[in-house]
Amino acid sequence: MSGGRSVLFSAAADSYELAVREIRGEFGRDVRIQRVGAELGRVDGPSVRDLAAACDAGRIMFVRHLTEEIASFAELPPSYELAEVILGELPQYPEALGVQAWTDDAGTGGSYYHRIEEALTGRGVAVTRSGQEYVVSCFVGRKAILVGLNRRADSLSDWPGGRMRLARGEERVSRSEFKLEEAIATFGLELPSHGKAVDLGASPGGWTRILRQHGQEVWSVDPGALDPRLRGDRRIHHEPTTAGRFFAANRVRFDVVVNDMRMDQVTSARMMLDAADHLRRGGLAIVTLKGGGRNPLDGARRGLDVLRERYDVRHARQLHHNRNEITVIAHHR
Ligand SMILES: C[S@@+](CC[C@H](N)C(=O)[O-])C[C@H]1O[C@@H](n2cnc3c(N)ncnc32)[C@H](O)[C@@H]1O
Repeated sequence: MSGGRSVLFSAAADSYELAVREIRGEFGRDVRIQRVGAELGRVDGPSVRDLAAACDAGRIMFVRHLTEEIASFAELPPSYELAEVILGELPQYPEALGVQAWTDDAGTGGSYYHRIEEALTGRGVAVTRSGQEYVVSCFVGRKAILVGLNRRADSLSDWPGGRMRLARGEERVSRSEFKLEEAIATFGLELPSHGKAVDLGASPGGWTRILRQHGQEVWSVDPGALDPRLRGDRRIHHEPTTAGRFFAANRVRFDVVVNDMRMDQVTSARMMLDAADHLRRGGLAIVTLKGGGRNPLDGARRGLDVLRERYDVRHARQLHHNRNEITVIAHHR
């Protein structure tokens, strides 16, 4: 894992060019970038650590996963050789490694996972899909199989290519639920115990349900209805009105504000400035800034500038479950 290696970055196919713009904006126009898959690019110049730091701070928003490339194959080599390639890169012989495989389409690359698993366990190294200090990434492209290796701390996500998979149980109220779950897991957010949360744009109630799971009492603001399954819960208060009208009359002081309202980035961010008056100092904000407009990158940046008037922005990223939007994590100053 020496310097000067290429880094493979994942972004949603539609957002790939935005990710490229951001990387060049951060590291200079001369950085060499090459597209190697619908959702994957290769960048030469910056280290995986510097890229991860820029993504973590929200200066690069449209990259959702990183790995440092260590090898490229037409076909995976035999087990012994494959293990050598991987183990030879590590500073110490590991007890266990994470292994993640994915393909250029929606595939999981399952057979490649098992080939790498077999190679490593044959050398006494335990293998899991997540939770290890170092992660082996295997991207199965049309022309080549690319293998990456780096610290999980620099990967941005502990899922293959950042494609987090969540169970689609019957209890799900909306697809939007995945976005909040992914944000909480990816950024390791801890919600205050017995907190009070306001959910702006709550209907049909997916985020409200997740907030309840995290122990919050929830004020769910939306002219639209909540799913009937949420009705019996006395710690959910449906406020069937707009966010502006709600705050004009509200007297509750909240610990958390979440906002998934369907509106452009700046309008949504401005509503967060109103929300700040009702949020305790240091309170947590989770916001999706929605794509809208011809230039989603500039729109997102404008939305962030508005948010910064009253919040410290900790993260801003297009997560796997975001469509045409980014998720922002911020704290009320
Ligand atoms: C993407 S949906 C929210 C889905 C929800 N987070 C869930 O998990 O089920 C967007 C919602 O924003 C609401 N909305 C749009 N403008 C609003 C406003 N000014 N005040 C409150 N809600 C608003 C819409 O009624 C719509 O239900």
